[in-house]
Amino acid sequence: MGSKARFSKEILPIILKDRITEQWYIEPFAGGMNAICEVQGNRIANDKNLHLIAMWKGLLENREKPTEISKELYDRARTEYNSRTNIEFDDFMIGWFGWMGSANGRFFDGGYSGKSNTKIGTVRDYINEAISNIERQLPKMVGVQFENKDYNELEIPTNSIIYCDIPYQGTKQYSTSKDFNHSNFWNWCREKAKQGHTVFVSEYNAPDDFKCVWEKEAKSSLSANGKIGGNKVSTERLFLYCN
Ligand SMILES: C[S@@+](CC[C@H](N)C(=O)[O-])C[C@H]1O[C@@H](n2cnc3c(N)ncnc32)[C@H](O)[C@@H]1O
Repeated sequence: MGSKARFSKEILPIILKDRITEQWYIEPFAGGMNAICEVQGNRIANDKNLHLIAMWKGLLENREKPTEISKELYDRARTEYNSRTNIEFDDFMIGWFGWMGSANGRFFDGGYSGKSNTKIGTVRDYINEAISNIERQLPKMVGVQFENKDYNELEIPTNSIIYCDIPYQGTKQYSTSKDFNHSNFWNWCREKAKQGHTVFVSEYNAPDDFKCVWEKEAKSSLSANGKIGGNKVSTERLFLYCN
């Protein structure tokens, strides 16, 4: 959910069009890393979600982890996550079970995904699918610098390209993205652009001083009225701040 995998082929050529060699590409809201994994060169992936960044760092360090995730194992990890304790599992492991084992990529909020029977009589193994997807992404993430901060505390190298895939306004948000303040965010973009960075943002809408440079109608499980599950058509947009 919220993944940019579907659009990265279309939006990245726009975002990277004028990139010069050695110029840094920064994602302050990197989430599932579906866009940043398709970019080369100097990159910083930041996300405020502790377990997400711990998982990616651990994966790139080749940490051992189980690839069979039973409901029982998942529940033990969820208990530690909910009680904010690390007894049996560290942050990497909690991240692994939470991201690989939950339905709809929604961390523990989504509940255990496991397997389900399809209408055509086959079995879908969601955990296996999630693990295969992340394994395909991993080699493309080698060399990325990870940070685990609130976006406005992130240190950004001079003259960077910043791409922000923020929690969309008016859509239901979970965990780290709850209480996201959009007007503070737009002000931060203005400030970053004044400092010399090039700032792109994915959203349905933006203030008038942001120019829409790409748009596409897309079916979304995240409908614009904040309810999940209605297959609403929304217009995905990419904005560039122009000062
Ligand atoms: C729409 S998702 C990004 C999806 C990602 N581009 C992808 O393709 O998978 C938004 C991300 O912003 C993160 N986030 C929310 N509030 C944040 C904040 N204040 N600072 C940094 N990250 C934040 C969330 O943890 C979430 O991973």
